[in-house]
Amino acid sequence: MCLDDILRTKQFIKGIFKAIATLQKKQQKPIHILYAGTGPYATLLLPVLATYSAQEVIVTLVEINKESFNSMKSIIHKLDFENHVVHFKNEDATTMKLDSTPKIDIILSETLQCGLVKEQQVPITLNLLHQVEDSVILIPEMLALDVCLFNHNSFTNRNENTKEGNYLQVLDRLIEINNSSNEAFKLNTDSTVTTILSEKKIKINPSDATTFDALVLVTRMTIFQDITIDLNQSGLTVPIIIDVLSNHTEEKTFTISYKIDSEPGFAMHWL
Ligand SMILES: C[S@@+](CC[C@H](N)C(=O)[O-])C[C@H]1O[C@@H](n2cnc3c(N)ncnc32)[C@H](O)[C@@H]1O
Repeated sequence: MCLDDILRTKQFIKGIFKAIATLQKKQQKPIHILYAGTGPYATLLLPVLATYSAQEVIVTLVEINKESFNSMKSIIHKLDFENHVVHFKNEDATTMKLDSTPKIDIILSETLQCGLVKEQQVPITLNLLHQVEDSVILIPEMLALDVCLFNHNSFTNRNENTKEGNYLQVLDRLIEINNSSNEAFKLNTDSTVTTILSEKKIKINPSDATTFDALVLVTRMTIFQDITIDLNQSGLTVPIIIDVLSNHTEEKTFTISYKIDSEPGFAMHWL
């Protein structure tokens, strides 16, 4: 299913190649990529392993699901890529402890759904960031959830020249995950208790409810530098309608939060 999201796959692969090229300008030793959640094919790294030698790129491959892990291992073996592999780990990346050497240069994970719901992208990222140097490149480099006002008609009738502001107005950023998020968010990944990572209180004016007809959550994704997945370009970035706005005469307020537990996600409540 992930592979079928063509733009997602293409942008991730382009981003990984660009990150490698950037690091190669700075370091001579092999670039070590930790891939958390390889799936059954290690899809995002196969083109890299087919392009670079084991002197240039080495990898640690992590997958929680036993069947997917075994399939991925057998594909790596059949393609003769084993000389790139530092470790195969059939482990949970939200709690795994990393070996201190060789140093990890790139953390790659695509264990996510639109709205950062259900899957463990955020806990995986925070657990791994805690154990690596600040200079690590995170792919995706930036993930965020923006709470926005949305005009459905203007969105549906947009063309390639339409500016985002014509159908979307950002009210607040609920959460942003980047390579310093381990400092911004304290998460005990060994705990099973629900943790609220972020909560925002947002006001809606009566004029907003006439110009816009819905509240949406927009997933923003920068894979690396200028390589992004923009709004609605992939299943990962479709706007999620969180409520419909009807004409109202008074200011209204709601809270929206993002939580981590066995099923991460957001929740909103009108006050
Ligand atoms: C959305 S799929 C992506 C697979 C592949 N990376 C790709 O891009 O095609 C996510 C994969 O991450 C694995 N996964 C989910 N949670 C994980 C965890 N906590 N630790 C390690 N792997 C995990 C799933 O089993 C699944 O194979």
